[in-house]
Amino acid sequence: MALDMTKWTAPSHGSPRGVTILGSTGSVGQSTVDLIARDPASYRVEALVAGSAVELLAEQARRLKARLAVVADPARFHALKEALAGTSIEVAAGPDAVIEAASRPAEWVMAAIVGFVGLAPTLAAARRGAMVALANKEAVVCAGRLLFEAIEGSGGKLLPVDSEHNAIFQVFEPQQRHAVDRLILTASGGPFRNWSLADMAEATPEQALAHPNWDMGAKISIDSATLMNKGLELIEAHLLFGLPEEQVEIVVHPQSVIHSMVAYRDGSVLAQLGTADMRVPITHALGWPARIDGPAARLDFAQLSALTFERPDSGRFPALRLAREALVIGGFAPVVLNAANEAAVAAFLARRIGFLDIARTVEDVMAGWSGLANPVETLDQVKAADLEARRRAEEICKGKELSN
Ligand SMILES: NC(=O)c1ccc[n+]([C@@H]2O[C@H](COP(=O)([O-])OP(=O)(O)OC[C@H]3O[C@@H](n4cnc5c(N)ncnc54)[C@H](OP(=O)(O)O)[C@@H]3O)[C@@H](O)[C@H]2O)c1
Repeated sequence: MALDMTKWTAPSHGSPRGVTILGSTGSVGQSTVDLIARDPASYRVEALVAGSAVELLAEQARRLKARLAVVADPARFHALKEALAGTSIEVAAGPDAVIEAASRPAEWVMAAIVGFVGLAPTLAAARRGAMVALANKEAVVCAGRLLFEAIEGSGGKLLPVDSEHNAIFQVFEPQQRHAVDRLILTASGGPFRNWSLADMAEATPEQALAHPNWDMGAKISIDSATLMNKGLELIEAHLLFGLPEEQVEIVVHPQSVIHSMVAYRDGSVLAQLGTADMRVPITHALGWPARIDGPAARLDFAQLSALTFERPDSGRFPALRLAREALVIGGFAPVVLNAANEAAVAAFLARRIGFLDIARTVEDVMAGWSGLANPVETLDQVKAADLEARRRAEEICKGKELSN
């Protein structure tokens, strides 16, 4: 089931537009806060949600005059309450409060919590008919069908914010899906694009976190170094735009100027270009279907020396192959791939396993899973598979720790 964008009409939103930011203290969240703070008269901030960073959350809530601030970690409740003392901003904590924040009546919701934990609040926003600006790719990878059903059932919308999918969204004609030859996802290649496998085996978290073009949170930065990020995006593109695996191509484009392309069967290729600044796709989603002013630096074509392209090397970056396999298998495979990857990335960041062990762990968990292709019916099944895949990945990481 792909997302049916053909029926989407322009929403008639009042001004100011009600907005909620899930993951406001993260990289995408802070960019969203920045855009809203530049034009406060156009927005009414319903809720801001963070994991544990209460100081930044409280500062954002004061700045944007939010109605509600929620911290997921219950142990941080008193710190948040203290930081917002003397204001009329409501304060809450815990996972249920995160869902409740997503359920509040904001017309536009930025889903920018990192990882699988972002799925439940994203679904809650989708179920009540919000326009969901989707950065949290793990949610769509693990439960795309459930998310799309929620959107269709509620009359909501899902606006892709991942720069590649936002680029495709801008040049994809849903009524012309049959006339699309292929989607072309661009990848920077990450910090290890030219590294040998021997050097990658010794890579430290600091080296893996040093992305050449984008300034992002830790988890997505590591995924960009393994190219698992592109693998997750491959699954995301297949689900969002309804094209089979063989019609989604990945091409390495180290300059990150072209954010992705759609090739049509008549020979035309439509691309979206821009500077490597997430405020471009976020501005697009914030204004959609209108085009609004954005602060990102403009592309200076006279300064661009060359745009280059090369094929990705799935020998050195096996995560790409694993993600393609998961897409083709379907069912629980993307859930297992994602959960094992999240656990392995955390272990690498904690210096418990090596860089190359991340993809090996994912491969081992997938190989040992029976019923990968079984159809996903419910959110509870997805949650159970996620939990079990993490447990198995954790066990494998422990074994690798001993052998390192
Ligand atoms: N960064 C980018 O340029 C970019 C581009 C495309 C797509 N994305 C996607 O956008 C999502 C966010 O990425 P990011 O780079 O912005 O991540 P990030 O910088 O790590 O921020 C993650 C956000 O999620 C919050 N959070 C963590 N655990 C939570 C929990 N249990 N409950 C509620 N909130 C929680 C964090 O709060 P604390 O600050 O309190 O920990 C933070 O606000 C990811 O899915 C990523 O793949 C990011």
